[in-house]
Amino acid sequence: MTPDPFELLAQWLPANDAPERPLMTLATVSADGWPNARTVLLSEWSAEGFAFHTDARSRKIAEVDATGRAALMIPLFSEEASRQLVVQGTVEAVEPEEEATVFAARPAYLQTLAWLNTPEFAALPDAERVERWASFQRENPAPAPPQTWTGRRVRPQRLLFWTGTPDTASRRVSYTRSGTGWTVEILAG
Ligand SMILES: Cc1cc2nc3c(=O)[nH]c(=O)nc-3n(C[C@H](O)[C@H](O)[C@H](O)COP(=O)(O)O)c2cc1C
Repeated sequence: MTPDPFELLAQWLPANDAPERPLMTLATVSADGWPNARTVLLSEWSAEGFAFHTDARSRKIAEVDATGRAALMIPLFSEEASRQLVVQGTVEAVEPEEEATVFAARPAYLQTLAWLNTPEFAALPDAERVERWASFQRENPAPAPPQTWTGRRVRPQRLLFWTGTPDTASRRVSYTRSGTGWTVEILAG
């Protein structure tokens, strides 16, 4: 059992430059206590935490900025094992240079989405949504990030590594921050 959860993360998660980004459920709580969850891409991870990128006007940003907290769940299924990583952490802004680098690495579809994903655009008739989408892409082959593009990093306070295999009971390894290190516990699945 490694005392350092980041060693385990390096085995579980694809490299940050792998084009296929893992999906994660980002869970937040509203000011009046309602839990909320949605799927986002894991943009990149490091010992500092797990970054996602989104629209600054979104509900998720209002909620993480108000509470400073979030949880993530990343499912990772392979032929040899099913895995689930659950993270609880505090939330901080990512650096503007990192926001620009992540935007540049996003496929054209997601870059266009970052520009056009507004309530006004969503309300347009389908034919107009298709026509405006195509003309944006024609006129902006390499768009810069819009002002609304933003990133946040979830700095883990607790990580739970769940593993299930068909030949024995699933179990979890829990890492909780304690001082400069981590308290490690084995838990039932
Ligand atoms: C597969 C998938 C990936 C997604 N990735 C992102 C993402 O990386 N960033 C993002 O802002 N929204 C992403 N979304 C959309 C969000 O799930 C969500 O609908 C949107 O961001 C609005 O969330 P909010 O109103 O809770 O802030 C993704 C949705 C799906 C289904």
